[in-house]
Amino acid sequence: MTASGNAWWRGASLYQIYPLSFADSNGDGWGDLPGITQRLDYIASIGVDGIWLSPFYAGTYADFGYDTTDQKAVDPRCGTLADFDEMLAKAHRLGLKVIVDQVYSYTSSRHPWFQDSRKAADDPKGDWYVWADARADGSAPNNWISIFGGPAWEWDRSRRQYYMTHFLPGMPHLHVQNPQVQEAVLDIGRFWLDRGVDGFRLDVINLCMVDEQLRNNPLSGEQSVAMPAHAQHWLYDGTRPENLAFVQSIRRLADEYPGSFLMGEVTGPIETLVEYTAGPERLHSAYWVLGLVDGTPTAANLRADLESWNQAANSWPTFSVSNHDVERGLTRCGGADAGPELARLLVALLATARGTTLLYQGDELGLPDGEVPYEKLRDPASRRFYPDYLQRDGARTPMPWQADAKHAGFTTGEPWLPIGRAHPPLAVDRQEKQHDSTLASTRKLFALRRAEPALRTGDLSFMDFAEPLFGFERSAAGRRIACIFNVSAAPAGVDSEALIGATVLASQDYRPGTAGRASLGPWGYCIVALGAG
Ligand code: BGC
Repeated sequence: MTASGNAWWRGASLYQIYPLSFADSNGDGWGDLPGITQRLDYIASIGVDGIWLSPFYAGTYADFGYDTTDQKAVDPRCGTLADFDEMLAKAHRLGLKVIVDQVYSYTSSRHPWFQDSRKAADDPKGDWYVWADARADGSAPNNWISIFGGPAWEWDRSRRQYYMTHFLPGMPHLHVQNPQVQEAVLDIGRFWLDRGVDGFRLDVINLCMVDEQLRNNPLSGEQSVAMPAHAQHWLYDGTRPENLAFVQSIRRLADEYPGSFLMGEVTGPIETLVEYTAGPERLHSAYWVLGLVDGTPTAANLRADLESWNQAANSWPTFSVSNHDVERGLTRCGGADAGPELARLLVALLATARGTTLLYQGDELGLPDGEVPYEKLRDPASRRFYPDYLQRDGARTPMPWQADAKHAGFTTGEPWLPIGRAHPPLAVDRQEKQHDSTLASTRKLFALRRAEPALRTGDLSFMDFAEPLFGFERSAAGRRIACIFNVSAAPAGVDSEALIGATVLASQDYRPGTAGRASLGPWGYCIVALGAG
């Protein structure tokens, strides 16, 4: 066992791979598992502790991997189970942990379970999905709205009933209260744990159970063009109190495999994430995207994100700035013209935050969102809400590996999504040669996090600064490290006694002066050891 023992994930950083867009080894235009295996050395060189793989399972790919037909099989686009085993073995040889996505609340409508379930209510799998009769006027059983727009109910001719969905009509919701369903999905988990994975990212885990009485959601009074579901409080179609017992069963399974990490995708406010991760019977953590809720990152917003969770004593946070479901942090926080300084500040924040941190593929290069014209959009939610909210394809465009190669070296065929226009000059091969690239600074920052227990698992206390500055101190075993960020595109002065005699560990556009005065350039930051250092 390592120094941190089974709790290796406390303070660890994981690199999120969106497999379809990472590296294509066979020229079919889709990223695949052998492509990942070939690039694992690169990932290890960043200094992260492991990877989280978004789905690569057999599925219909209407929602690009989350709509599965067999979660114990690898989709031919992504390779084979043998490819997975090879990838896992190599990752472990490199000292990288591997966690995989698990989807326990819905399947594709082509899944054999659903094909059985739709035959008849008294089929052995008749109760495996959420089915309900039409109302007397033929309309849907209640007012629930799908997160991807439209009613949360789809009529099935064969059952002559409605089935429920949180997402696409082809993604029916499992009846998770049914013990047979729980057993079946936990069996999928066991399958991957037996293969040797180090844990799971649990997809929308708080939405697994919906109200058995199918009560109408109360109205929120909010109108959102991009997300009609926001017109309701999601009281009955998710986050049901009874769902926590299911979470406990998942935790019991994970505990049979010491060192397994359970990280939830939990929708809702931070309080719900804290609830889902409180104490030893729930998830180890859940992730929160920094600077997402309030759009522009102000010092106050970032502090609020970190602070609200840091106060929860018996729960461990996970933070990210980008993932496959949101605009990349750089574009979201800085707009179309944002430059590498902001990208590096966001990485610095991840490298110093208290929690487990997630670095999304391409954020180490400072990629902005790729622009995808409407005709080339793949994501059904992006198409439906175009041009508002949920433009998820922009964060899913392929990784640029070689600046001068066709399709930036991602594929020798036709990529499933276009390469971002601004991406080739930011490709890995080019940044490898530049000592001052975003990649170089990412490596330095993550090496620092690894070397400094104060940054990895130390305590955090906030420093008092006014906008646009934001800062905190991390400390462990007498070592104190101050991390100060200028959250603005204009230079800012810093005045803090803490800086007197401090040793710089990493910085961007930081000019120390005398008597604790210093200045930070646009999006500048400094990470300094305090006192005797
Ligand atoms: C995934 C999304 C997906 C949704 C529905 C989410 O949790 O992160 O990418 O579209 O589930 O499948």
